[in-house]
Amino acid sequence: MSGRGFTVKKNWDNPREHAMPEGVRVPAEMRIGPVSITPATVLAPMAGVTDTVFRRFIRHASLFSSDQLSVVSDQEKASEIDAEVTNSQSGCGLLMTEFTSADGLSRMRESKRKRYLTFYDDEHPIAAQIFGSNPQTLAEAARIVQDTGFDLIDLNLGCPAKRVVGCNGGSGLLRDLPKIGEIFRAVRKAVTIPFTVKFRLGWNDAQIICVELARMAEAEGLNAVALHARTREQGYTGQARWEWIAAVKQAVGIPVVGNGDIRTPEDAAAMIAQTGCDAVMIGRAAPSNPWIFRQIAQYTATGSYERPTAEDRHRLIRTYFQMLLDEAEASQSLPKDARMGETAGKMKQFASWFTHGVPGGAKLRASIYQARTGAEVLAQVDGFFSALDSGDSSAETEEEAIYRESALVCD
Ligand SMILES: Cc1cc2nc3c(=O)[nH]c(=O)nc-3n(C[C@H](O)[C@H](O)[C@H](O)COP(=O)(O)O)c2cc1C
Repeated sequence: MSGRGFTVKKNWDNPREHAMPEGVRVPAEMRIGPVSITPATVLAPMAGVTDTVFRRFIRHASLFSSDQLSVVSDQEKASEIDAEVTNSQSGCGLLMTEFTSADGLSRMRESKRKRYLTFYDDEHPIAAQIFGSNPQTLAEAARIVQDTGFDLIDLNLGCPAKRVVGCNGGSGLLRDLPKIGEIFRAVRKAVTIPFTVKFRLGWNDAQIICVELARMAEAEGLNAVALHARTREQGYTGQARWEWIAAVKQAVGIPVVGNGDIRTPEDAAAMIAQTGCDAVMIGRAAPSNPWIFRQIAQYTATGSYERPTAEDRHRLIRTYFQMLLDEAEASQSLPKDARMGETAGKMKQFASWFTHGVPGGAKLRASIYQARTGAEVLAQVDGFFSALDSGDSSAETEEEAIYRESALVCD
């Protein structure tokens, strides 16, 4: 998919399989300044994906009961979406907004800002991520974020998009450490909420500066750092180099969040075991497996975790689609037709992430692509899962589809 002008990969190149490490768990808590992140798991910021509906969906899909250490069923969870959650806890400790332009935020009218900075009470603790290159503009944007009620402010130094890098924002700044220092000082002075930074290893292999950058962040009073362990030149290719997360952890005393290539609870625990990082951040695995945070929490509590059935998947995708439709009804940010169009687009996008690796998923993705409205997408999804329930043999597996397609080519 394309996220604001850069191509990002939904899938991982040759993902490493990790066995569950002996005796290691994702920590139950991380503190960023006075903010408690419980458990120490973070939903990564993802442009075009992590809007308020998706964030709440993930937080609620991650619910488990802290009393009985049992997982809350999707049905219970669906009825709790708007309700006060009492004895259950989410497996996702921190939510983050997608990146927002500091320049845009500081210039736009209040009503328009709301569209970018909307969040609901059940999203706390939540961080807003901003990008830009001008220290004063970033400081002004950080003040707006604080006044809006966010718990943390995060600076993006990782975005590889040409349009962002072209203005020296995102990973473009990785080539200018003194400028990063100026930005750190200006933003730190502007706000009292915890201030964090998310960055990559460096611009390329010849200029890996992550350890120096993390040290500077600590010296300038930032409260935590998050490292996506790839260079800008790597984009999303190859594998994240977790050894650099370990190097950053050894270099600083503030909390270090590790990011890159976590697809399973085993990967999450392996990252903790191999790097000693304080928390894990999960991006692409969340839309393809929205249960991942709950599975990590369940593993921490019980030593094993459940895998979703086809029925669970059907219920979950319906819950999310209903949340999207409700938000489109309630929101005033765009004319109704545009809102419904946007919603249908989000449903297609999610269905595409969510059905990778599901038997018959390729066929469903192709038919969803043709759908024009949210209702049509929903009908395709319902039809697909009913066929699975009734054991319809036309729902071929991904492997069968690949075999069929390659057989056609060979013929
Ligand atoms: C669609 C998409 C959009 C992204 N947008 C952002 C963003 O707005 N800010 C940011 O810091 N990183 C962004 N990223 C990077 C992720 O936060 C994360 O660092 C990266 O996907 C690696 O983690 P993963 O292997 O768990 O996906 C984006 C990634 C994807 C796939």
